[in-house]
Amino acid sequence: MPHDNQQILINSLPSGKLSADNYRPTSAPIPVIGDGEILVKTTAFLLSAGSRAGLQGSASYAGAPSAGRVMNSSGVGEVISSQCRDVPVGRYVQVPTGWQQFSAHSGYDATVIPADHNPIDYLGPLGINGLTAYFGLLDVAQIQAGENVMVSAAAGSVGHLVGQIATLKGAHVVGICGSNAKAERLVSELGFRTAVNYKSGHYRDQLKTATPNGVDIYFDNTGGMILGSALFRMNLRGRIACCGVVSQYDTDRPEPAPKGIPGLLVNKRLTMRGFLVYDYAQRFNEARNELQGWLARNELISLTDEVYGLDSAPEAFVDLLGGGNIGTRIVRLDQAT
Ligand SMILES: NC(=O)c1ccc[n+]([C@@H]2O[C@H](COP(=O)([O-])OP(=O)(O)OC[C@H]3O[C@@H](n4cnc5c(N)ncnc54)[C@H](OP(=O)(O)O)[C@@H]3O)[C@@H](O)[C@H]2O)c1
Repeated sequence: MPHDNQQILINSLPSGKLSADNYRPTSAPIPVIGDGEILVKTTAFLLSAGSRAGLQGSASYAGAPSAGRVMNSSGVGEVISSQCRDVPVGRYVQVPTGWQQFSAHSGYDATVIPADHNPIDYLGPLGINGLTAYFGLLDVAQIQAGENVMVSAAAGSVGHLVGQIATLKGAHVVGICGSNAKAERLVSELGFRTAVNYKSGHYRDQLKTATPNGVDIYFDNTGGMILGSALFRMNLRGRIACCGVVSQYDTDRPEPAPKGIPGLLVNKRLTMRGFLVYDYAQRFNEARNELQGWLARNELISLTDEVYGLDSAPEAFVDLLGGGNIGTRIVRLDQAT
């Protein structure tokens, strides 16, 4: 076993936009585990916009990382040493690996991945982002067949799953994303009814054309201007599931709240409800069973956008915040599981 644990530390918290210079590589001894703990060798970890929220230095669901710490991330890996009877060596687990090769965890807190599941799915459809899409639509938004659903950051990890789950539930879906190429893939590969590029000069007109029957559910991953545009397309008694605010993460000058709050909420009797996926922790297995069924039948497609090697993580994260990813971006420390 190697003695070094290669890591990427937060060098400094960003002011303004994140850059790769906010990170630095280092190495540390491989952790020594104690009673009840497991040592995990990282197979891959997730890059997702939510981690940028934590770097703003304020407490959020993503936690509050600080300079000098290993960058935080959900990851999957193989248990290579165990002092936890329930999690033997050789099993794959989902744990908060962070951006490093080896990490120690309580075996009792690890999500043990069934042998017949693909560990990589635990960074996407069977991980936090898939569960967020699932509970946000089914529980928070209370989706019904025949409804009109709009989702922002639609080509991102949560969004591409939201659109497909909504379609599986019999809804008509419009995705909002940042390029025509992304929009085309959402429709041709993932079955979205339509998709609109919010960076196009005619975005508001195109959204109007794309939502001839209005919007019953808006799954909000972005806040900002796109939330503002959704408010004006909402139908009477529509529901807005507030999942995240990606338009406000990579900046120290967040936009003011959009027009229409609270006026349009009142007049259209809208419900706007925020949620954290961890609120549903007791029901994760129930959701994973349904999600895994859809994956096995190819009814749900998981797009992964993979980069290789620990050193590629900082640039890949900066690129993701600028819209470089389609689907779930992961950093692999192996070539295959
Ligand atoms: N509530 C919860 O428990 C929970 C759990 C997990 C995630 N989340 C939230 O879910 C949201 C989506 O996360 P994710 O991991 O799916 O995303 P992701 O895969 O990291 O993708 C982020 C995407 O956001 C888009 N984006 C960046 N800047 C934007 C801007 N200014 N306006 C609009 N879109 C912008 C980019 O695509 P474009 O090309 O389309 O711009 C980018 O590809 C985030 O807000 C995250 O915080 C919430």
